[in-house]
Amino acid sequence: MYTEKVMDHFQHPRNVGEIENASGVGTVGNAKCGDIMRIYLDIDENQIIRDCKFKTFGCGAAIATSSMATELVKGKNIREAMEVTNKAVMEALDGLPPVKVHCSLLAEEAIHAALWDYAEKHDIKIEGLVRPK
Ligand code: FES
Ligand code: FES
Repeated sequence: MYTEKVMDHFQHPRNVGEIENASGVGTVGNAKCGDIMRIYLDIDENQIIRDCKFKTFGCGAAIATSSMATELVKGKNIREAMEVTNKAVMEALDGLPPVKVHCSLLAEEAIHAALWDYAEKHDIKIEGLVRPK
């Protein structure tokens, strides 16, 4: 049912934890199941994401997508990070079963929420970013 990459990121998730004094933090919940994901971003003065960590209360697919999403945003600038959509994360994982696609949305929403938090604190505008629900 799950690809090798999903199983790998589920069993050995990358970047689990918190970042103290993070530049931006985003917490989102999935209304379908009540699961929660929190993403921490450490962004340098050139708007490059230096570090990214996550904490997820959710299923295996949610853990795997959080892990892959943190890997994908690291080293990107804040505009490039906007392109780390749930589709991009799923592709990087070689796909998810259809019933698990909604779990991958958490990662995209959490990244956007963390970027919003950062943008608001620094009074900058990120193209295409909308206020998290
Ligand atoms: Fe909860 Fe999948 S059912 S996120
Ligand atoms: Fe809850 Fe996937 S995050 S079922």
